[in-house]
Amino acid sequence: MLKVVASLLLASLSSVVLAKDAVELLQFENFGYSGGYSPVVALNDIYSDDCSCQLASQRTTFSGANTPLNEEVSVHFRGPLVLNKFASYVSSGYVYGDDNSGNWTRLSYYDADSGASENVTFLTRAGRNSSCLGLGLTFADEDGVSQADSSTVLAKDTLINSNQEYVIFTNISCGSSSTTGDCGVYRPDIPAYHGFYGTEKMFLFEFQMPNETHSPWDVANYNMPAIWLLNAQIPRTAQYSNNVNCSCWRSGCGEFDIFEIMNQTEYTHLYSTIHDYQGTGEIESGLAISSYIERDLTGTMVGGVSFDSNGDATVWVSNSTSFDEQVAAKDVNSWAKGVKEAATTTLASASLASSTASSKSSPKKGDGYAYTPSFLVNMIAAVLTIWVI
Ligand SMILES: *[C@@H]1O[C@H](CO)[C@@H](O)[C@H](O)[C@H]1NC(C)=O
Ligand SMILES: *[C@@H]1O[C@H](CO)[C@@H](O)[C@H](O)[C@H]1NC(C)=O
Ligand SMILES: *[C@@H]1O[C@H](CO)[C@@H](O)[C@H](O)[C@H]1NC(C)=O
Ligand SMILES: *[C@@H]1O[C@H](CO)[C@@H](O)[C@H](O)[C@H]1NC(C)=O
Ligand SMILES: *[C@@H]1O[C@H](CO)[C@@H](O)[C@H](O)[C@H]1NC(C)=O
Ligand SMILES: *[C@@H]1O[C@H](CO)[C@@H](O)[C@H](O)[C@H]1NC(C)=O
Ligand SMILES: *[C@@H]1O[C@H](CO)[C@@H](O)[C@H](O)[C@H]1NC(C)=O
Ligand SMILES: *[C@@H]1O[C@H](CO)[C@@H](O)[C@H](O)[C@H]1NC(C)=O
Repeated sequence: MLKVVASLLLASLSSVVLAKDAVELLQFENFGYSGGYSPVVALNDIYSDDCSCQLASQRTTFSGANTPLNEEVSVHFRGPLVLNKFASYVSSGYVYGDDNSGNWTRLSYYDADSGASENVTFLTRAGRNSSCLGLGLTFADEDGVSQADSSTVLAKDTLINSNQEYVIFTNISCGSSSTTGDCGVYRPDIPAYHGFYGTEKMFLFEFQMPNETHSPWDVANYNMPAIWLLNAQIPRTAQYSNNVNCSCWRSGCGEFDIFEIMNQTEYTHLYSTIHDYQGTGEIESGLAISSYIERDLTGTMVGGVSFDSNGDATVWVSNSTSFDEQVAAKDVNSWAKGVKEAATTTLASASLASSTASSKSSPKKGDGYAYTPSFLVNMIAAVLTIWVI
């Protein structure tokens, strides 16, 4: 194994050309920092034109591995995409690369072929529109995007198109909406469910991201499929809000993009990005790894993301990935070891919390993110390590 380490220093950064390569594994080391965010504490008059929201005056603070995504997360999907399998796991003590550390236990499972659907709830934004919160979540019907009256399993081979989305939560209902409740404050007219807990958590996916077959029409995110995690509080208040005070996203409660097409120019490159204030003040662009995983336009992709007890967040694709009820640490390590190429970025521990708040709060909104020149500026705060195997 040839290890190429590029430690980027402030002064030399602008002259360094970052390697951009296709790999099968993307890893952030040292994910998690000492920081905080502002949860939503009130949603007022949500169907009036005077709709408004309020963030807590006191920030929720956090520190340690994988923060703030050690909190409960929801799992989001954008088309063109077909989901064949999904599984969520927790572990106690898994350390990336250590075969003797914690094994993984499956807590949720969806398998389109067998029809299995355990501990998952599919929601989609087919509800009522609010001028400050946007469209409300509802149960998704079996097509993933229409409204259903109750929790419904996604039909086999369901293709969602460009810019269509659904989200998976657990099947555990939230208690009452309240600042001290188990899910915090949430939009009153949605089916509210818990997300996936755990500092050490893992999600596995078998999916297709087929090429968009229709010519471009008036749609955002044309041919830009993605799978990503949000702090579960975000979609329960407002994922695409028109008001910065209606979501904790802007203040840094966390988003982790696992497999994401960033723009139509690079429509076969799946990037991973963290959106919080670890090592960056630019939450819109976040911190991405400059290498990418190739999108298979015609085949099926299998892979996942694991978060270990040291703050290693690892994204991979490998056809060795299995969705068993129990997965040994050594198996997850062997999937990672089996890849041909990998890229690792070590995050700085520093928090660069935002000073400015714009009027919009838009996790994964609109036209993708602009990466230059702010991408390079962001990288100044990070020490970048590139591994070439
Ligand atoms: C469902 O998932 C949640 C969160 O991962 C977990 O707390 C719960 O125990 C799971 N339920 C079952 C029946 O496994
Ligand atoms: C949640 O999922 C688990 C596992 O499939 C199941 O045993 C349980 O009955 C479900 N609970 C609800 C409320 O649907
Ligand atoms: C929802 O309302 C907002 C603001 O009033 C508006 O900009 C948006 O187009 C509406 N969305 C839909 C799908 O009607
Ligand atoms: C994929 O779809 C895009 C948009 O329709 C098109 O421009 C491109 O040529 C297609 N690529 C392949 C390999 O078919
Ligand atoms: C958000 O809340 C702050 C503090 O209460 C307030 O000053 C600001 O005007 C609010 N922003 C919007 C868009 O409502
Ligand atoms: C597309 O996204 C990649 C990755 O973020 C970026 O490097 C590239 O500059 C973007 N291209 C365009 C045309 O925006
Ligand atoms: C993985 O297996 C699927 C079929 O399950 C296939 O479509 C795909 O091409 C395979 N990927 C690789 C990299 O071998
Ligand atoms: C993990 O699983 C392996 C294989 O099933 C087993 O041998 C090992 O004892 C387990 N380790 C722990 C810490 O439970």
